[in-house]
Amino acid sequence: MAKSQVSMTVNGKAVEALVEPRMLLIHFLREQLSLTGAHVGCDTSHCGACTVDLDGKSVKSCTVFAVQANGSEIRTIEGMAGADGTLHALQEGFREMHGLQCGFCTPGMILRAYRLLQENASPSEEEIRIGISGNLCRCTGYQNIVKAIQFAAAKLNGVPLQEAAE
Ligand code: FES
Ligand code: FES
Repeated sequence: MAKSQVSMTVNGKAVEALVEPRMLLIHFLREQLSLTGAHVGCDTSHCGACTVDLDGKSVKSCTVFAVQANGSEIRTIEGMAGADGTLHALQEGFREMHGLQCGFCTPGMILRAYRLLQENASPSEEEIRIGISGNLCRCTGYQNIVKAIQFAAAKLNGVPLQEAAE
């Protein structure tokens, strides 16, 4: 099959590659760029484990062809920590508030929460729950995921967090 040239910025780095037109963005990220943080958790576009940030939107990368991402700016979980390894407030929140168990959903959950906090810096608990409703977690029961996002929002806003993890 004829391949198409794509170029995009992934985690701040310019990337160019030849891809088959049928290649999904999730497979491009995982197989061609070796960015394996985004996961494939379903084949029905339901789970959100493949969520990345694409041009300022949360996107399920299993629903996008790599060629459709041509020219775009993408962030994955590998681009969340600082260059010196300092965790992003969301990563810290998931660690501090026990927001994960098996961790399979976590990269997608963090990328979705990242965009949620860009759009709404101080979301209510209900807004967080609605905001992450496209991302499924089989393990945690969501309670501590919500607290992890609240932790990050508080930290990013410079206000104290009242509640500890259960
Ligand atoms: S892999 Fe499940 S929504 Fe993309
Ligand atoms: S921590 Fe296991 S699926 Fe969410």
